[in-house]
Formats: sequence, structure tokens, C-alpha cells
Amino acid sequence: MLSDDTASGIAARVAERWRRIDPLLPPAAHQTSPHCGAPLVITDDGAVIAAGRCEHWAAAPGSLDLSWGAARRFQLSTEVAGPGVADGLGRLLVAWREHLASVPDAGDADTAAVLNWPSRDADGIATLLKHGLDPLEVIAARPTRRRPAAGPGSVTPNGSVLRLDGHTVLRRAGAADTDVVARLGLEIIRFDARFGAVNERPNTLTALRHEVAGLLAGPAPWTWLAERDGEAVGMLAAQPPEAAAWIAPMTGTVPAAYLMLMFVAPGERGAGVGSALVDEFHREAEAAGVAVILLHYEQLNPVSMPFWSRHGYRPLWTTWQAAPASAIR
Ligand SMILES: CC(C)(COP(=O)(O)OP(=O)(O)OC[C@H]1O[C@@H](n2cnc3c(N)ncnc32)[C@H](O)[C@@H]1OP(=O)(O)O)[C@@H](O)C(=O)NCCC(=O)NCCS
Repeated sequence: MLSDDTASGIAARVAERWRRIDPLLPPAAHQTSPHCGAPLVITDDGAVIAAGRCEHWAAAPGSLDLSWGAARRFQLSTEVAGPGVADGLGRLLVAWREHLASVPDAGDADTAAVLNWPSRDADGIATLLKHGLDPLEVIAARPTRRRPAAGPGSVTPNGSVLRLDGHTVLRRAGAADTDVVARLGLEIIRFDARFGAVNERPNTLTALRHEVAGLLAGPAPWTWLAERDGEAVGMLAAQPPEAAAWIAPMTGTVPAAYLMLMFVAPGERGAGVGSALVDEFHREAEAAGVAVILLHYEQLNPVSMPFWSRHGYRPLWTTWQAAPASAIR
């Protein structure tokens, strides 16, 4: 087990390294998530050069988490100080692989070995690939103050609409829209299920309804619908900072909001509906003083990365995974 002294020693060196790599990364503080206690500490000439904690995580039955990945995930948080990042990370991954080999159910079908690696920490990438991990998802970030949203500041109050053309309007969603927002959310999960990490489960729509009901409960939800002749053709749903606390520690910039769901119907794509939804959300987030917006996209989704990049987002963390968990080499 990593002692607190060892942890704080390496944490300071990782913090220094991360500051140089990417100013949006958090200070590499002592990791607080629960972990199994496996001794994942790599030394070189007596100095700790890499350390990890393995969390044995299981999705709550019926939860939306089940749709975002494997039901059971062995999640490694890493602290790799360098010099010799590739070597330190490689030895840490070997130690993790040996630990997972001792866990009887790490070979079960619905499991994955998962770790987040700073996207700009290029020195680790070849090592992650060599050990059988795939870069399936990205947490992207958009520092709002450096890139003001396009267009005039016209946040849609409840009940008013922004006319995109003669047939299409954009409006803020409310509690009465729970079903339609959940249904469009299901379309995202179905679309993204092609790209290796996301799964539609028997309870996905029910879990989405529950999640969306929470998003739409407040007085001015950060959720918008685009409607063509009265039919919903696009949707964006986001969490303001008070609801995004679960992901905020992935960056040192505060306050952070989270863009959770975004979808435009296939026949409507490429006509600016997605951009209009994003611009509206950006105006609202900036007016609320949000400093950074985070979102997930699937690395292999061919429309995601170009779209988000055009709207000011760039990779912050890459989520690497091997499934089943025992597939890590
Ligand atoms: C990503 C997505 C929301 C974008 O919505 P959209 O309404 O197509 O967005 P826009 O029309 O504003 O912009 C799309 C860009 O792709 C181009 N494009 C052209 N034809 C396109 C098509 N058939 N499909 C998608 N994009 C197309 C557009 O010209 C535009 O490029 P530009 O900004 O350089 O002009 C939409 O493609 C989608 O719902 N994809 C499936 C779900 C998904 O990927 N969600 C995001 C999860 S992270």
C-alpha cells in the first residue's frame, strides 16, 4: 500500500510535470477515490517514480452508468513522475496486470480495465498501446473566457424561442420535455455504441428518464431543444457547476460545467442546428461565469471531434481501456 509520505512525495513531482504539460490539468493532488490496496509502487534507485491505485468499481443496478461502459471497471489512477515516463508507466502497467491476474472475475465479459491519461502527455501513449489499452474516449475542455461564443448575447428565457429558419426553432426545455429529451438521449447512446465503450442496456431509457428528470427539475434547466415544425430534431443537455461537481476535479480551472448530451437527428445534420444549440449553451454558461466546460466524446465517433474542435474544445484526458479487464497485456 502507498503510504501518505510516499504519495505526497510523488504527488509534488507529478504536479510539477502536469503544470508543464497542460495548464488545464488539476494539481496532481493525493488521490482520494477508494482503492483495493494493491501495492502498485515502482521505484528506481530507491526513489518512487510511479504509483497507482486500483479501484474495483461496479455500476449500481439500473443506473445510467451501466450504459457508459462495462458493468464492472478496474480503474487505475496513476502518478508517473518521470524522468523516464514510458519506463515508469510501463512497469506500473505490468504491476497492475499482475494484480488483475490475481482477481478471479477480471476476465468476466462485462468488465474493463480503465485509466485516464492526460491527453497532452504524449510520452505515455506508445506504452499504453503496447499494453493492449485502446484510447476510446476523450474528456475535452473549453476554457470559456478565452473563446467567447459566436453571435449576440441572447440567452433564451423560459418560454421564448430562437428562430433558426422558417421551420426550426430553438427553445429551453422544461420538465414536460423529459420523455423527448430522454428519447433523444437514447439515440446518442445508440449512435455512440458503435465506438467501443458505450452500451445500450435494457434499462437505458428508464435510467435516462431519471437522469433527465433531474436535469429538468430546476427553474431554468441548461437543456435546449431544436424543433422543426413542432417535432424535436436536436437536443443539448448540460449540468451547471453545482451539478458537475462529480467531474470538476478533472481540471484545476473553476467553476466547471459539464455538457452531458448532444444530438441532432441524422436527416438534420450539417445544417447548423448543432452549432446553434452549442452557441446558446455557451452564452448561458458564460453569463453564469463558468470558466471551463467539460464533455466526453468517443474518440472514434467521426462527427464528434471535428465538431467539438470547431467549437473551441480540445482533449484534456484520454480514457484508455482493455475489455475484459484481463485483456491488458
Ligand atoms: C455532432 C452533432 C451534434 C452535430 O450537429 P449538426 O447539426 O450536424 O452540427 P452543424 O450542422 O452545426 O455542424 C456540423 C458540421 O459538419 C458538417 N456536415 C456536413 N454534412 C454533415 C452531415 N451529414 N452530418 C454531420 N455533419 C455534417 C457541417 O457542415 C458542419 O461543419 P462546419 O461547422 O465546418 O460548417 C451531430 O452530428 C450528431 O448528433 N451526431 C451524432 C451524435 C453525436 O455524435 N453527438 C455528440 C456526442 S459527443
